[in-house]
Amino acid sequence: MSSSMGNKPVRTFKVVGLPGDGIGPEVYASACRVLAVMEEKFGLRIELDRQLIGGAAIDATGSPLPEATIKACREADAALLGAVGGPKWDGNPADKRPEKGLLNIRSEFKLFCNLRPIVTHPALHEFSPIKADRLAGVDLMLVRELTGGIYFGKKWRDGDQAEDVCSYNREEITRVTRAAARIARLRDSRITLVDKANVLETSRLWREVVHQVIADEFPDVRVENMLVDAAAMHLLSRPADFDVMLTENLFGDILSDEASMLCGSLGLLPSASINEDLFGLYEPVHGSAPDIAGQGIANPYAMLLSVALMLRHSLACQQEAEVLEQIIFDCWAEGILSCDLVENGLGTSEITAAVCQRLSSHPV
Ligand code: NAD
Ligand code: IPM
Ligand code: MN
Repeated sequence: MSSSMGNKPVRTFKVVGLPGDGIGPEVYASACRVLAVMEEKFGLRIELDRQLIGGAAIDATGSPLPEATIKACREADAALLGAVGGPKWDGNPADKRPEKGLLNIRSEFKLFCNLRPIVTHPALHEFSPIKADRLAGVDLMLVRELTGGIYFGKKWRDGDQAEDVCSYNREEITRVTRAAARIARLRDSRITLVDKANVLETSRLWREVVHQVIADEFPDVRVENMLVDAAAMHLLSRPADFDVMLTENLFGDILSDEASMLCGSLGLLPSASINEDLFGLYEPVHGSAPDIAGQGIANPYAMLLSVALMLRHSLACQQEAEVLEQIIFDCWAEGILSCDLVENGLGTSEITAAVCQRLSSHPV
């Protein structure tokens, strides 16, 4: 949406802010400060509508995803989430757990396409447990199916017996394959399909559908198959070989935390969860980090990179996204780093201030 202030055009957007739990509100506060500077600098107006999700929502309303939050998201261009969860709610029944709020918002808005870019930066190579020679040139896009599979299948528990059903249908696989193929075309046009087709029937359906969609609609895109156990290994031994990695919900969850170690910390990985209408939920890959919550030391970069993804994918502010990303990379190169990366690192607020200061002085 656009309006005008005087004769200066202002691009106006509605974003639902979902701070959540643990370090969620700490990194969310960092995003708000950066967005305020971006507004001023680039003539944007980002109306942040703060709402409840997760444990905070359970405490206030009894529900991990209150109706008011859903309603606000319906009227918004995007949502920005900190993190949910924490020991306080770990003993709650399944539908009163903070994580249920996140799962529900994903399924309510059909956010089936989860993008988790994994890009290593030379200034951070030394902080990865993987040797630097393996890290050069790593630039992979993990495309994780986000609204199907074992996360959303039938579940039950009867005393000492329990079951979680993993189910996928052709349509669910087709739409995420198309999304992955479109992304691949903007890159090196290569997809690695990660599955467990030697054991799982759902994986065999994935292989059939993915290859069919690519052959029929994207003949210029190459697909290779890789079993998930081997993929977990290749991701560490030759990460630079991957372009787009396409996988189902649970495998994508696990592989993305593993891949964060290539970058140096889980506190660096952003994500975008997008639906067919390009409404997106933007959030760091990490969780609420109860072990460091309240100390002011959470790494805000994953959240700030998620803001950049939001600017690019849901707000059509490509140039602004690039500026923010470049400023973050400059900060890394200058050693503006948090405690998860270096001993005696900077706090969340200090890092945020450094990003804001560079944004303010950036030539438009
Ligand atoms: P976690 O991602 O919260 O933390 C794992 C480790 O990484 C911890 O040692 C933590 O201190 C560190 N870490 C994570 N983010 C960091 C950051 N920004 N800066 C510095 N260090 C950081 O995973 P966990 O401990 O397994 O889970 C804690 C809670 O978070 C659980 O309730 C889980 O369900 C939830 N969770 C939520 C999300 C989400 O909201 N998207 C994602 C993952 C986990
Ligand atoms: C993630 C998280 C979530 C997931 C949890 C909190 C439900 O780990 O976004 O990676 O498993 O998808
Ligand atoms: Mn996860």
